[in-house]
Amino acid sequence: MKLDILICNTMEMVYLLPFGVINIGSLYAFDNDGVVMKNKFLVEAFQTPNRVSKKLRNYFEPLPIDPYIDGNFRFRAYSTYSLKDNWIKRLPHTSFEQPKDVNKLLGGVVRDYQALDLAIDQEAEFQHLLHSFVDRTRINTDKAIIAVHQIRVISSKDHLGTPAPEGVHRDGNEFVGIYCVTRKNIIGGFTQLFSSPGERPHMYTVLEENQFIILDDKRYYHYVSETIANEEGKKGVRDVFVFTA
Ligand SMILES: [Fe+2]
Repeated sequence: MKLDILICNTMEMVYLLPFGVINIGSLYAFDNDGVVMKNKFLVEAFQTPNRVSKKLRNYFEPLPIDPYIDGNFRFRAYSTYSLKDNWIKRLPHTSFEQPKDVNKLLGGVVRDYQALDLAIDQEAEFQHLLHSFVDRTRINTDKAIIAVHQIRVISSKDHLGTPAPEGVHRDGNEFVGIYCVTRKNIIGGFTQLFSSPGERPHMYTVLEENQFIILDDKRYYHYVSETIANEEGKKGVRDVFVFTA
């Protein structure tokens, strides 16, 4: 089937848009009869109600330190889920591993993180995030496994927090979602999307609390720059959920 019109690539506009409800990712293709063919999801960012981060914030306090990264600045838990009968259920706990070509820092290392607190599965706000990820990406829910990484990165005035020590990267999945629960006492932590490493980013923005960005991991590389505490003696905190499928 021949493509007559492609309407896409409005990414440059992202610099000009305030970060709110934006949908910059729809790719429309028309056949010879002018019929719209199936869209391909690229990227979407949106804002959830404030109560979502408020409800989930406390689950980050007891997170254990990430033993696979030097510097004692990252805290982490990991669980996987699948969708059954419109309810997203936790799967048996597994370790986490990425290929070496995807993660040059920790690729090939089997990482055994603690599971997310079981009680979080019953929170409507957490289910809302999982459903948002599933709905936007339209992943095949019969087969898809959704991994949830719960991550805290701390910083001080003297010590940077490094949310993405592996640099500009892909996660090695079909889709990636990043949802910000807390940004407290920090500057930096800019979320960036790239077509390829080395190019200037298509998107360069702060993911504020309650903001969710979901992207096609095969289409875009991503990176989050370092954070630093904004005041002497204060602990800088950035808490996020990262969803992959
Ligand atoms: Fe990532």
